[in-house]
Formats: sequence, structure tokens, C-alpha cells
Amino acid sequence: MHMQKKIPKFDDMTGRSPRMQTIFQRICDAAATDVTVLILGESGTGKELVAQSIHRRSSRANEPFIPVNTGAISKNLVGSELFGHQKGAFTGATDTKPGKFEQANKGTLFLDEISTMDEATQVSLLRVLETRKIQRIGGRRFIPVDVRIISASNKKLFHSDLSQDAIIRQDLFHRLSVFTITLPPLRERGEDILLLSEELLNQANLQFNKYIRSFESEVIDILLTYHWPGNIRELKNVIQRAVLICRNDRISLDNLPARIRRKKLKTAEICLPIGTSLRDMERVLIQKTLESTKGNRKKTAEILGISRRALYNKINKY
Ligand SMILES: Nc1ncnc2c1ncn2[C@@H]1O[C@H](COP(=O)(O)OP(=O)(O)OP(=O)(O)O)[C@@H](O)[C@H]1O
Ligand SMILES: [Mg+2]
Repeated sequence: MHMQKKIPKFDDMTGRSPRMQTIFQRICDAAATDVTVLILGESGTGKELVAQSIHRRSSRANEPFIPVNTGAISKNLVGSELFGHQKGAFTGATDTKPGKFEQANKGTLFLDEISTMDEATQVSLLRVLETRKIQRIGGRRFIPVDVRIISASNKKLFHSDLSQDAIIRQDLFHRLSVFTITLPPLRERGEDILLLSEELLNQANLQFNKYIRSFESEVIDILLTYHWPGNIRELKNVIQRAVLICRNDRISLDNLPARIRRKKLKTAEICLPIGTSLRDMERVLIQKTLESTKGNRKKTAEILGISRRALYNKINKY
């Protein structure tokens, strides 16, 4: 039988890097209270998993967890989605329908992508947070709701400290961000990248009925140094694709998409001792870049960010 290593997990989250240990602690702290939580982090860093984990560890665990992605709902329907509507409130409202707030009663409402929320919805939401009551669209009655709010955004909610640059209203921001958890990007999670890669490899094997055992060492180098703008979601796609096309028992470089392989070339390093002059540094950099492009001067000039003419002049000078 094939023994698989135990992969360190916190609920559904793989990881044991110091950055994630801090996050796991924050999740426990948030779960012990009933305050609103704002989860920030780049796309694909696991914000929804964190929200679920807080809910599951909170005293509301046996009540509903209701996610709403306001960015995915057309603007004029967000209000009705959140607060519900009465029959006949607008064209198409053929029945009375309770909104997500009512569905989440006693549980947790997860508001995803809050940076996409329009002004009117923000104002309504603020009112609900203050009064703990909702009013269905077209309805007169105020319905009390007992809901814990967790929200998430992959954008900074303020461009700067200046409130006029706010993406959401400052008063709402303060209401939503009583407790903030900021997830680290995958590239800052060190060895977690390899843990996740291994786990995703196992999952892809199961999914596609394959038996790929590991990654070649060049692939591991790339996994550790690539920028991962799409974070864990991107890693998952890359590994699934690699498993699908791999014809050996190890994932090799040519199983990776070109955009990821290319990054490796750029990260080839030059090591210079302190004491090197700027002139020598420039000379070495030009020489090494020329080597990496196999003497292609056009590409070299592009990488160095100078014109071809400037490159020729420098080559002649040195
Ligand atoms: N620590 C982790 N361990 C295992 N899988 C993870 C982890 N974090 C995230 N994932 C997986 O990565 C994918 C993206 O996670 P999730 O949807 O929670 O990210 P997100 O931050 O909400 O992204 P977005 O901003 O794009 O909505 C999911 O498939 C999720 O299961
Ligand atoms: Mg999400």
C-alpha cells in the first residue's frame, strides 16, 4: 500500500507556515466572539475558507452559513437578494421572497467582494447593522434578524488614508471591520507552497485516475519562486493541468504553462560582492542578460528596459 504523508491542516486549510499559524490563531479569536469580521487578501488566498472556519468554530456553528457575492448579482437585484421582497414589489416579483439576511437568521452571513457594493445597498446595509432589523423590498414590517456578518474583499477598501478615495463608505467600513484578518499571498507562505502542491497533486491524481508521484527538482524551484498572482486557485489549475498532460511519474518543466516557465529565466541570479562599482555591475548585468537571451539584443534591450541603440552603445563601451 502507498503511504501518504499526513498534511498539516486547520479545518480545510492546508498550511503550517508562521504566517498561517498567525491566521489560525486569529480565526480562533474571531470565532470566540460575535463581532463583524473583515477578511482581506488577494484573489484565491482562501478568504471563503477562513469565513467558513470562523462560522464552524463559533457558537452559531449549527445555524446556517449563507454566502452572498454582491459582485456576481446584477445591481438592481442586490437589495432584493439581501433583504427579500414582497409579492408585487417590482415587475417579476411574483412571490414574496425572504432575503439572505432572513435565511442567515441565527447564523452567519458572508458578504463576498464588498468593494462592488453600490452606494444604495451600502446605506441599507449600514442601517441593518445599526438597527438589527430588515425591511423586505415593498414591505412595511421591520423584521428582527440575528446575524453575524463576515465580509471579504480582494481590494484595499481605501486607496489611501484619505476618506474621499474610499471604495466603500467609511462609516460602513468601520462597522464591518471591527476584527480584520489579512491573508498572506501564496508567494509569502514559504514551504506551504510545497505542502499545497503535494496535496493538490494527490487530489488531481484521484480526479483524473493518474499515479503521478512527485515533481522534478526544477519544477519545485519554480513553484517556490513564481509570483502566483492567482494564489492557491492558480496553483490548483497549474497542477491539474500538469497532471493531465504528464506522461511520466514525475511532473516535469514542460508540463508547466509557458508563463510560469518564463518567470524562471528572469529569476536567474547574479551575485556580486560589495565593492563592485556601478560600472562593473552594469557590465555584468548586460553580459548575463545577453547570455540568458542567447545573444538576442532586441530581447536583451527589452528586459533591461533600454533602447536597442543604448544597448549597442554600452556593449561598445565595455
Ligand atoms: N489553505 C488552503 N488549503 C487548501 N486549499 C485552499 C487553501 N486556501 C484556499 N484553498 C483553495 O483555493 C481556492 C480559492 O480559495 P477561496 O475561494 O477561499 O479564495 P478567495 O480568497 O475567496 O478567492 P477570491 O478572492 O477569488 O474569491 C479554493 O478552491 C480553496 O478550496
Ligand atoms: Mg472568494
